[in-house]
Amino acid sequence: MSDPFDFRARAHRFAVMGNPVAHSRSPCIHRRFARQFDLDIDYRRIQVERGGFAQAVSHFAARDGAGLNITLPFKVEAWRLCGTPGNTLTARAAQAQAVNTVSFERGAMRGDNTDGVGMIRDLEDNRGWEIAGRRALLLGAGGAARGVAWALLERRPALLAIANRNYGKARELAASLRGDGGDGGGDGGDGGGGGDGGGGIPITACGLADLDGDFDLLINATSAGIDDTVPAIDAACIGSGCVAYDLMYADAPTAFMRWATAHGAVDAGDGLGMLVEQAAESFHLWHRRRPATAPVLRALRAGQT
Ligand code: ATR
Repeated sequence: MSDPFDFRARAHRFAVMGNPVAHSRSPCIHRRFARQFDLDIDYRRIQVERGGFAQAVSHFAARDGAGLNITLPFKVEAWRLCGTPGNTLTARAAQAQAVNTVSFERGAMRGDNTDGVGMIRDLEDNRGWEIAGRRALLLGAGGAARGVAWALLERRPALLAIANRNYGKARELAASLRGDGGDGGGDGGDGGGGGDGGGGIPITACGLADLDGDFDLLINATSAGIDDTVPAIDAACIGSGCVAYDLMYADAPTAFMRWATAHGAVDAGDGLGMLVEQAAESFHLWHRRRPATAPVLRALRAGQT
């Protein structure tokens, strides 16, 4: 017979919502974290049909759901939902205009974004790559790029260049990072030029073909890797001692990692560590405990689920 006073079980219902979601490693990661603290959590994958996101979330809340991770393609919709009256957004979720973590408290939703901090922890803590003072190049200007750009700036690179196939989107992202809201104020169209971000960090935008100069840190936030291709940029952007990071991950080095090392990058990494680190930050938000990430990352690399 189930225990009617088993409040703990009721308070520990979690899920990841997305479409597709069958491949998600989040349940495996969160269960491994929970085991470190002897926590009994129920973490599921929920496949949500397009158009059915808000309903799925309210269904989850009505069943005493405590926390949600949101993956593609619902991060922007989650941001909108958490921005409605009665709910809240953290500053980093508001900046990213995307939510990957929702906490439910007394009927209200709090939307957060742990992707940026997840990437920074993987770069700095796991890989020992310094960002402060380095020339950083961010490839892409879609949701993934926006999710990490603010966190990157906070680490105070010497400059941040944003290159995207569609130049207009790169310009918009750069403008929002600079705080000039894309109103054209100041430098108007900065193909290679640019302005200062908060704190005096130069932020530039350009199309892929117009990329100029060389960099110490390359971050691929495009989805080109889905087709096993690489953004069409000149390899001259790889400076001496440059390291390259791909937000995507796969069992073998990604096309971008292979391209970067073939053209002189001294090190290249994929985004599996970011996945584990963003999950650890979500876990901390929900459980107020900080799990050890290294053993979980090792287990995933070893193919354990
Ligand atoms: P995500 O949420 O994964 O960022 P997105 O918002 O659709 O998805 O953005 C995809 C990003 O990858 C965009 O920056 C896109 O460039 P465009 O804005 O020019 O479309 C970029 N991208 C996708 N395929 C690409 C390719 N083959 N080469 C270069 N960039 C590519």
